[in-house]
Amino acid sequence: MKITDKFGRPLQDLRISVTDRCNFRCTYCMPKEIFGRDYPFLPKDHLLTFEEIERLAKAFVKLGVKKIRLTGGEPLLRRNLPDLIRKLSAISGLEDVGLTTNATLLEKMAWDLKAAGLKRINVSLDALDNTLFQSINDSGISTERVLKGIDKALDVGLQVKVNMVVKKGMNEQEVIPMARFFKDKGVTLRYIEFMDVGKTNEWDFSKVVTKKHILNELSQHFELGSVDPNHFGEVAKRYRYKGTDTEVGFITSVSESFCSTCTRARIAADGKLYTCLFAAKGFDFKELLRSGVNDVEVEQQIIAIWNKREDRYSDERTEESAKNKDRIEMSYIGG
Ligand SMILES: C[S@@+](CC[C@H](N)C(=O)[O-])C[C@H]1O[C@@H](n2cnc3c(N)ncnc32)[C@H](O)[C@@H]1O
Ligand code: SF4
Repeated sequence: MKITDKFGRPLQDLRISVTDRCNFRCTYCMPKEIFGRDYPFLPKDHLLTFEEIERLAKAFVKLGVKKIRLTGGEPLLRRNLPDLIRKLSAISGLEDVGLTTNATLLEKMAWDLKAAGLKRINVSLDALDNTLFQSINDSGISTERVLKGIDKALDVGLQVKVNMVVKKGMNEQEVIPMARFFKDKGVTLRYIEFMDVGKTNEWDFSKVVTKKHILNELSQHFELGSVDPNHFGEVAKRYRYKGTDTEVGFITSVSESFCSTCTRARIAADGKLYTCLFAAKGFDFKELLRSGVNDVEVEQQIIAIWNKREDRYSDERTEESAKNKDRIEMSYIGG
């Protein structure tokens, strides 16, 4: 069954955050001053169980979801994550299960993840320079550890893409070294514009490094050709290095918003469903599931929410709205 929202956008993708905790304190995502020792992370019984996640996922797949991506916080911190991947991979009609990770535990876990049915991972890495990387992740983890995780994932046969948030004054100098390194490795790198998610990362327009700026810089070093989208709702703007199969892409949530083709729903770690990354309020599916409803009632609730959906935050973003609107944190909802 296919369901659409108020603007005719189908429900196709689901992101599930499996934890709000992380072993990094990326300055643009979980700044240490706010996410410190006393930060009220979700207690364990507030997280959806794997059985609850599986049940919800099945309902979403019935309603048109083809791809699920697990995220967080840091999803590899969730105990026994491969068990969840095994459950999700077995859902009939689901075409793809992916994962977004900071890769600190990837070297150890890559094989189990692959064996459980995972196909693709996105690894976040914002710099190759170790000193800079450690100043961004603010947790002492080295680039080497992340790169080892990437190599292990490639060795076991996972498809790997690397995501790099570029923020003015933080890591623009890494744009070309990252491109060169991952081009040589044959791994797709995607540059992500710094977004106004949450209320704690002191976002403003002046800190955004746009696709246009980066593409201009890349063009001075590499010959690039643009690549057509693979499917409706594809988020990345894709390019290919001439004479190679290797791609480079951009997630342009700020400079070229893609709300009009957004087909994505998001479930936070505590089971709240959000229909936009920049939302402030979600619907509590944990409570609904734990109240003893049947599967049809769960599906009906999803349909009712999706049919009413009219989010287009990035299309409408202004300096004012970016400053004033209430929004949930990225580490809670997942990227
Ligand atoms: C919230 S993290 C969760 C998964 C995992 N911990 C990781 O870092 O890959 C998902 C993605 O969101 C990105 N991200 C976090 N805050 C962001 C922001 N304000 N703007 C753009 N991207 C952001 C991260 O760099 C990461 O690539
Ligand atoms: S971006 Fe990912 S790794 Fe960095 S603090 Fe946020 S959740 Fe953790």
